[in-house]
Amino acid sequence: MTDLATQLARVCSAAFEAEGLESRWGAVKQSDRPELADFQCNGCMGAAKQAGMNPRALAAKIAPMIDAHASVDRVEVAGPGFLNIVVKNDALAEQATWIGADDRAGGGMVDQAEKVVVDFGGPNVAKPMHVGHLRSAVIGDTLVRLLRFLGDDVTGDVHLGDWGLQMGLLIIAVMDEQPGLPYFDADQSGPFPSEPPVSMDDLSRLYPMASTRSKEDETYAKRAQEAVAEMQAGRAGYRALLQHFIDVSVAALKIDYGFLDVSFDLWKGESDVDPLIAPMIEELKEKGFAKQDEGAWIIDVAKEGENVETVGKDGQTRLKNPMPPFMLVNSRGATGYHATDLATIKDRVETIGPDRILYVVDQRQALHFEQVYRASDQVGYLSRDRLEHLGFGTVNGADGKPFKTREGGTLRLADLNQMALEEATRRIGETGLSGDIDDEEKAEIGELVARAALRFADLQNQRTTNYVFDLERFTSFEGKTGPYLLYAAVRMKALLRRAADEGVVPGDIRVEAAEERKLVLALDGFALALHLAREKRMPHFVCEHVYGLSQAFSAFYSACPILKDGVEPEKKASRIALCKVVLHQLEAGLGILGITAPERM
Ligand code: ARG
Repeated sequence: MTDLATQLARVCSAAFEAEGLESRWGAVKQSDRPELADFQCNGCMGAAKQAGMNPRALAAKIAPMIDAHASVDRVEVAGPGFLNIVVKNDALAEQATWIGADDRAGGGMVDQAEKVVVDFGGPNVAKPMHVGHLRSAVIGDTLVRLLRFLGDDVTGDVHLGDWGLQMGLLIIAVMDEQPGLPYFDADQSGPFPSEPPVSMDDLSRLYPMASTRSKEDETYAKRAQEAVAEMQAGRAGYRALLQHFIDVSVAALKIDYGFLDVSFDLWKGESDVDPLIAPMIEELKEKGFAKQDEGAWIIDVAKEGENVETVGKDGQTRLKNPMPPFMLVNSRGATGYHATDLATIKDRVETIGPDRILYVVDQRQALHFEQVYRASDQVGYLSRDRLEHLGFGTVNGADGKPFKTREGGTLRLADLNQMALEEATRRIGETGLSGDIDDEEKAEIGELVARAALRFADLQNQRTTNYVFDLERFTSFEGKTGPYLLYAAVRMKALLRRAADEGVVPGDIRVEAAEERKLVLALDGFALALHLAREKRMPHFVCEHVYGLSQAFSAFYSACPILKDGVEPEKKASRIALCKVVLHQLEAGLGILGITAPERM
């Protein structure tokens, strides 16, 4: 089975073909005017124009062919040639029954599954995450869940930033504090102690200190640079220390990500491709892809028309559409972000063999990825069309500028989670929804509400736009929020429990009332929403769907009595069954968004 829109599109397409016209005119969608029809096909206008026919006359020919379908109650030709389709109540009931029994709750599957790597999260070891890292985590994790749900073979990789200057800063900061440690003895080749010499608290204290100092103290900055260079060159003590920093950071990251139910299949980082870099550079030099440029090794990735010099009105020469070269090795002989990303592509191709790699990273890194992708294409690792940068907008404060803490610093994910947890817990008490729930359960619910609030607030926006961070609005049980959706799900669960207590058993679904029809039509839109979200890599389509579904349920709930005295038993049984189907799909949709509803709230 599939959704009704797809079933009807098949019928319509066949009807156009029978008239000697292209099948693509048979596309069907839910009606823009639900008061007139359930579905509509707008193909007659275009098809008639192309074939030199009268659109209404064409529509009049097509209509009876659609009408003949078992699910269709009636078809009307409207306006210049719209086909308005109303389906039978029985067809809607059948559809709801199928969705209830379907593992994917009517969400469908992709025609052609792909092997996909999703590169997301991207936190930097020891550096505090900023809210941009939150977006990457939540959007990336949702895309992983979505693609997996639809049948793709997905690997999520955190791609830790663990190879940059911050590691050098930490090495010297620890050295100054604990100079006696074996890691600083250049003659030592190990083994080194397995216990880390620092905790996460130490790292959080040392990194900002060292970072600030390096900006004021040139000698200090130089020492840090030298330490990174030595670490990258393979000095054993520094490598051992790097591994400790990574382990300590990863343990902390797992807690913060866990709060948001974000997970990764691979915890690889930039440092993991280090062994691949030297041979890669050799290969690219040998094959003539890399060329020397003022002491550096670069790959020219500009296309024709880019990097064209223009002379402005002021007589100054400027570059039009600048596309700087891909920097394989810089003039100091060091490799950086370009090289690690290219080597990572090579590694993924060799070890995973993906059809596609998606990068969920801040829009501001667009140029970097364009350079990396073009280089990958040129040297033949993975072609440009299989590499997608999924950028996202910034999270802003009320002032419209990128969000900062009250103290003006970057917000740590751990603090953000804590803030959301406090706000959510406060709200639970406030609405009085918690009833006689004990403190332990209340704490668990608080976490679920906080997670729903943060994730939904982020995901409901079109990925590429900015949004304003407003915890009070995000945690509200009213409006288009995560907590509202939890409330909807919890209400359904409570209703089902009450029905069970009263001995009402879900029975055959019958669809009669207008609100029941609308509710089933909402259910029927799930497959399209998921399909769009996957195609455009935009989770907000899933958010729109679950929100619309909850609203349709709300309208049904107020218009159609379910367990009230006097409602005939078949109707009770049908409505409870429908409620169960809605909950099934709502939980599937929320699951894709990484949101879990509690049993009660
Ligand atoms: N660590 C980077 C940052 O904080 C993000 C990494 C994104 N992924 C990648 N393959 N470059 O900006």
